[in-house]
Amino acid sequence: MLIRKPADIRPSEITSETNYLNRRDFLRAGAIAGGSMIAGAAGAAVIPDTRQALLSGVKKSVFSTDEEANSYEDITTYNNFYEFGTGKSDPYRNAQDFKPRPWSIEVSGHAEKTGIFDFEDFIKPFDLEERIYRMRCVEAWSMVIPWVGISLADVIKHLQPTSKAKFIAFETLNDAEQMPGLRRRSLDWPYREGLTMAEATNPLPILAVGIYGKTIPNQNGAPIRLVVPWKYGFKGIKSIVKINFTSSRPRTSWNMAAPNEYGFYANVNPNVSHPRWSQARERRIGSGIFADKQETLMFNGYGEQVADLYKGLDLRRNY
Ligand code: MTE
Repeated sequence: MLIRKPADIRPSEITSETNYLNRRDFLRAGAIAGGSMIAGAAGAAVIPDTRQALLSGVKKSVFSTDEEANSYEDITTYNNFYEFGTGKSDPYRNAQDFKPRPWSIEVSGHAEKTGIFDFEDFIKPFDLEERIYRMRCVEAWSMVIPWVGISLADVIKHLQPTSKAKFIAFETLNDAEQMPGLRRRSLDWPYREGLTMAEATNPLPILAVGIYGKTIPNQNGAPIRLVVPWKYGFKGIKSIVKINFTSSRPRTSWNMAAPNEYGFYANVNPNVSHPRWSQARERRIGSGIFADKQETLMFNGYGEQVADLYKGLDLRRNY
């Protein structure tokens, strides 16, 4: 994963407090569809996104944090999506023409309901929920993101996996025509991720389809991506086209690329350093490079909900 020292980050990449829009301001801005130019987290000139459709019937969730959410601009201009390039502003710049519709998702493996589903049909049976989650990237930065999504546990229940299913594996679209980053072998494409079934059926993971009450922008993984808030952000695979219920542990992109640096579990753990940097603290995007880094919490602060999943497991060996 590309890491840059704070000294390498240009001042223009840092969002000033004045560019911060809170949720209400954003919704108001969306409603009046203002076209004024504002600078995003990655320094790119950003026009408030008027292409995203408002999602209706979104329920609140008890799992949401009341921490202040990052601005829409932070969330949609400072991204990791290597299919569109490895720079933080590349996904925003290069994903604008990406076509997230029509879209289909292939479900295969050990489940009663398998086949190819149209995206809209796939999500229709489930409640849309707002889940405001912390996201901690393995690169030691973090954000608070107001996702809209469907519960992965509900989706799995609906698909009826059999007793042979021990893991769930996901794959991203692999279309070099639309995704210029695929022409470089920065990773072994397609991007792949997976969870144990116990993890996947915990109430926290969602398949996100929106941000700030609107459909998810391309650079954040349109039309549907995984969010697992107690794990490093790279588990949150974007633009999912395949879901497979497997009996053995699936191969996952960052683990394949550097197995000594990125484990399968990838639980946020301030006590286990990355071989090249500490994971004890994190920089909240938008707080400015001179702001004190804050402490990283075990399981990204979601231990109450998930610590039981790892009872008896050595989290140093199974990182
Ligand atoms: N999914 C795909 N397909 N390709 C990627 O490069 N990057 C991951 C994850 N999902 C990535 C991906 C990483 S490293 C992070 S930190 C998060 O997406 C970033 O999500 P965001 O850009 O919405 O903040």
